[in-house]
Amino acid sequence: MNSNVIAPPVTHIKATAVFTCVLAALAGLMFGLDIGVISGAQQFIQRDFGISDRALEWIVSAMMFGAAVGALGAGWLSVHLGRKRSLILGAVLFVIGSLLCGLAWSPATLIAARVVLGLAIGLATFAAPLYLAEVAPEHIRGAMISTYQLMITIGILVAFLSDTAFSYTGSWRWMLGVIAIPGFLFLLGVLLLPDSPRWLMMRGRREEAIGVLNRLRGDAAIVEREAADIEEQLKTPQRGWHLFLENRNFRRSVGLGVLLQLMQQFTGMNVVMYYAPRIFQTMGYDTAAQMWFTALVGLTNVLATFIAIALIDRVGRKPILYAGFAVMAIGLGVVGTMMHGGIATHAAQIFTVAMLLVFIVGFAMSAGPLVWTLCSEIQPLKGRDFGIGCSTITNWVCNMIVGFTFLSLLNGIGNAATFWLYAALNVVFLVLTVWLVPETKGVTLEQIERNLMQGKRLREIGR
Ligand code: BGC
Repeated sequence: MNSNVIAPPVTHIKATAVFTCVLAALAGLMFGLDIGVISGAQQFIQRDFGISDRALEWIVSAMMFGAAVGALGAGWLSVHLGRKRSLILGAVLFVIGSLLCGLAWSPATLIAARVVLGLAIGLATFAAPLYLAEVAPEHIRGAMISTYQLMITIGILVAFLSDTAFSYTGSWRWMLGVIAIPGFLFLLGVLLLPDSPRWLMMRGRREEAIGVLNRLRGDAAIVEREAADIEEQLKTPQRGWHLFLENRNFRRSVGLGVLLQLMQQFTGMNVVMYYAPRIFQTMGYDTAAQMWFTALVGLTNVLATFIAIALIDRVGRKPILYAGFAVMAIGLGVVGTMMHGGIATHAAQIFTVAMLLVFIVGFAMSAGPLVWTLCSEIQPLKGRDFGIGCSTITNWVCNMIVGFTFLSLLNGIGNAATFWLYAALNVVFLVLTVWLVPETKGVTLEQIERNLMQGKRLREIGR
């Protein structure tokens, strides 16, 4: 949308636009289910198959490997199939992958099934934020994309709760298989979505694009100007790879997206998402307590996401990130220190749990939602698919590294040092945010693009 267009008041946002975004954000739900479901299942899988921690790391991270590959293919698919059909394909693979996980008869088949599940989620995590950034009116863009993150956290919570319920019988097959149901519902929902108007324009389907914009914006003048704006930008077609080779400014925005996702993953959040029961075990809790505390982690993650949603378009992105990285560093630092000293008393146990929850709050109110938001905002239109593709792949590759190394780190350098390591990384990320991250609050995507292409410093492209 042109920066001169006066945005309609938030109350006038068309219900269709909200509905569209909510539905697309359901992709986040699948993402969350996928992340959350393995934590509670691990000890039962390990027991049934009699496998080592190393093998368990393989099972956990096979999904992230699949997701990285899925995100890689998603760039091509989202251009040629479109955003909507990429989401549909993701949903279908999700249903198949989760059923296969539930039926797996050996560690190897479980690993293969987790790769399929990962492919699904890689596709969806690429297409959904792209879709959201393209259909959300700009003045609520931040909040819309945070809704996506909210759905991720709800998915994680639902998976943790369902794991807890099934843990009493130890039925890990049900834990892993049952998420096919929400996957199927998502599939039904996504079939109702309109295609992204920007994508339609890109494919030369102007009439349809105008039709969708009318449904989304409901104001002829705004629709015309938005359509004209998109057309103007599309005069130079999507050519991410070439742009990457030729244009230094684009390389900078791609680099920033990659860095942002790297920072998000190396906060250590997924260490807790995948291995929370194990962490509570090291604090001295039995299985039932481990599962319930894990559910509490999930609930905290959901609730703290509302802080981000409330603040993102008001306070802006950077201050929230500063606060988040600081809180995470403190939370993990203290957990490490408690583990170092030995958690002997009940009070010490509770305090350590509380500090882990503080860490979760820090992530959920900041890096969780904001990184996805920023990554979809900073790329110029003609390289947006490529740029978001690179950052999404980074998310999954780093996610895989985190998942693949945690148990080995615990076994190798010890519990305390592992948490201190992640605490230190959060301090580094705080500094990198000050130095490199732009403030994009209330700025049009077009303005950000102009600034970037004029060669402004990265941290100033939102001005
Ligand atoms: C991250 C995931 C993480 C989730 C936790 C997302 O933003 O990309 O890796 O598991 O947040 O809520």
